[in-house]
Amino acid sequence: MSRKILVTGGAGYIGSHVVKLLLEKGYEPIVLDNLSAGHREAVLGARLVKGDLRDKAFLKSFFEAEKPIAVMHFAAYIVVPESVTDPLKYYENNLSATVNLLQASVENKVSAFIFSSSAAVYGVPKEVPIPEEHPVSPINPYGTSKAMVENMLTDCHNAYGLPYVSLRYFNAAGADPSGLIGEAHNPETHLIPLLLQTAIGKREKFYLFGTDYPTSDGTCIRDFIHVNDLAEVHILALEHLLNKGESLTLNCGYGHGYSVKEVLEEAKRITKRDIPYEIKERRPGDPPILVAKSENVKKFLGFLPKFDDLTRIIETAWQWELNRRY
Ligand code: UFG
Repeated sequence: MSRKILVTGGAGYIGSHVVKLLLEKGYEPIVLDNLSAGHREAVLGARLVKGDLRDKAFLKSFFEAEKPIAVMHFAAYIVVPESVTDPLKYYENNLSATVNLLQASVENKVSAFIFSSSAAVYGVPKEVPIPEEHPVSPINPYGTSKAMVENMLTDCHNAYGLPYVSLRYFNAAGADPSGLIGEAHNPETHLIPLLLQTAIGKREKFYLFGTDYPTSDGTCIRDFIHVNDLAEVHILALEHLLNKGESLTLNCGYGHGYSVKEVLEEAKRITKRDIPYEIKERRPGDPPILVAKSENVKKFLGFLPKFDDLTRIIETAWQWELNRRY
């Protein structure tokens, strides 16, 4: 049987870690990426096709030629504040492109569609840890675009029988221990790489957004999940659907969080460097606490975390930051 898996956005941070694991598990990932944010160097040992999901004709011929058995859909814009100032950019790339991809997936009867969703669909949560049944009420167009794709998935499932798993990522972090791939966003907006780049001296200081949140130390709390564990969840979701398991929407987090100050202190300890910082106003749209209720991913997919350890997360990110290849 064919083991071809189409991976959109496979040259990006999370996608590239999943591609590496797919290869290790004997699959044949084909990366489709327009390289607007992805890196050619991040695609290790898999075929990379440069193309854009907004191009329907291209997508049609791609599916006809390759006949993938499954699709993993990572390609999307991800900068929340930019989605507020330029929502149509987000709806065009994150929605229209996904409509095209879903059409091609349905026409070609793929056996599995795995979608990169986000905790951003919950908006400001009414309860934490957040269960999957929590109301979906995003507070920015990025989160809205993810929630709308989730609606499209359930509609496509009901109408055409498309088997899907939607994975709501909490805070992906860390890097593959090989040091070959890691997080490389431009511009970088995420906490851990910004702290480490400040430790290295690439940045003068770190700006801490808000110390007056209703948390123990006044800074936001996040559920950081190591990118290799997240990659493992994708393989389990794929195998679940290939074995005719039911379609699912699942949180991806460890079920406990760390505050921004705790992460800052741990980053100083691991890097053995000073991390100068300045306290700033709250960043608009940041919920105080985002922690997943994480039982379902274990119950439905049998997920067993291997990297549930902030030290390990920061150590792997630090090794990557010290020897970045792209
Ligand atoms: N932070 C700072 N200074 C910075 C960057 C971040 O203090 O320079 C703080 C933020 O205010 C927040 C925490 O660090 O409290 C984590 O911020 P990140 O930007 O690393 O991550 P977010 O929790 O904002 O974002 C993540 C995903 C988004 C997703 C969002 C909500 O990266 O894609 O969760 O689910 F939309």
